[in-house]
Amino acid sequence: MAVNDPARLRAAEPARAKKGLWAWINERLPVDEFFRHELTEYFAPKNFNIWYFFGSLAMLVLVMQILTGIFLTMYYHPTASGAYASVQFIMREVSWGWLIRYMHSTGASFFFIVVYLHMFRGLLYGSYRRPRELLWVIGMVVYMALMAEAFMGYVLPWGNMSYWGAQVIINLFGTIPAIGPALTQWIRGDYGISGATLNRLFALHVAAVPIVLLLLVGLHLVALHRVGSNNPDGIEIKDHPGPDGKPLDGIPFHPYYTVKDVMGVGAFFILFALVVFYFPTFHGLFLEPANFTRANPLSTPPDIHPVWYFTPYYAILRAVPSKGLGAFLLAMALVSLVLLPWLDRSPVKSIRYKGWISRLALAVFIVSFVGLGYLGMQPVEPVYVLLARIFAVGYFAFFWLMPFYSRIDPVKPVPERVVYHAH
Ligand code: HEM
Repeated sequence: MAVNDPARLRAAEPARAKKGLWAWINERLPVDEFFRHELTEYFAPKNFNIWYFFGSLAMLVLVMQILTGIFLTMYYHPTASGAYASVQFIMREVSWGWLIRYMHSTGASFFFIVVYLHMFRGLLYGSYRRPRELLWVIGMVVYMALMAEAFMGYVLPWGNMSYWGAQVIINLFGTIPAIGPALTQWIRGDYGISGATLNRLFALHVAAVPIVLLLLVGLHLVALHRVGSNNPDGIEIKDHPGPDGKPLDGIPFHPYYTVKDVMGVGAFFILFALVVFYFPTFHGLFLEPANFTRANPLSTPPDIHPVWYFTPYYAILRAVPSKGLGAFLLAMALVSLVLLPWLDRSPVKSIRYKGWISRLALAVFIVSFVGLGYLGMQPVEPVYVLLARIFAVGYFAFFWLMPFYSRIDPVKPVPERVVYHAH
């Protein structure tokens, strides 16, 4: 065949063989190549179960929060005198304003539900283990950015819990030795929580942190595609390639998992709509009663506590008498999660093949985390403080005893290839 044979040239450059606008674009921007590389020729394990819905759902909620947030920003006033009234105006006067606001407030809680289930899947199947340590660490940075985003959003309606919540959380920075007091004043932009504080939290909530979140989620996905997904068996599918070099236990992400994820999206929207239309306050858990009155620096709510997704950490903070030690333990609770990939020494990844000690430890962790979450919403009474201390010990024991118990745990043999039963 001649060097300049048209058939040979076409085979070498398929995009050029095509005609029209799409080919023109692809010669200049690798759109087709990107989709091929990341979707149709990206192989994911064939045994994903429903725990694998939550990554795509987290992306969905992120997009939804940004879109509803843009519309809320059109009517919201970031001033101490106007914020509360502007939210009332959105709820009562702006066409469909109530829907946009309830989608955004419910979206915040659903974001955490989805992310907590996503993280729990990682704990179940050891998805944080080598070679996915960095993917996990990036996930943790996403989680912390999300917490900052949610905290700042909660201050914006300038309800009484917004005000006092901001007071408690920003004052925590005051416990940092030496720089604490100056740092808190710098964060507030004033001697107390004021309109200046509200204005800067608004700027961070609508612009800075969303950009950071988008970038981090992008990095999270790049890291994921670099190493490939884990799966409920915790077996690396790349270790078993077929004669064509493709993993034997892998299937193309598109169309198989795009279609599966659409089903997750359907189920998600049914539950989401139920809450938005019938239980938008979710009995005071998603929107708290104290936030239906305007911020009042002269009237502290009877008991201050954050929204449900922060209460496990809040319970740890309150479990010890010293504010400084509480803040330190709170930070350590997050650091422990970040360090998880290096604490787990088990020879197997997935809970399916771990022994009774690891299973018991995971159960203790879940009971402690949920228990702390419940206690963080209760008033400070001796019995609750005692329980919070017990659960805090359970929480930390899961992490810090892991290097020991994960080594002696009687694990089960892991099969060669992934286990899959077609339904
Ligand atoms: C906005 C928040 C987040 C988004 C949009 C997101 C997105 C995703 C997506 C799309 C996947 C692949 C699909 C799946 O496995 O479900 C994934 C996988 C993963 N994510 Fe996230 N994620 C987020 C937060 C987190 C957090 C907070 C962590 C943990 C600290 C985390 C850890 C992981 C891990 C370990 C995997 C691989 C799981 C496996 O292969 O078994 N992610 N993420």
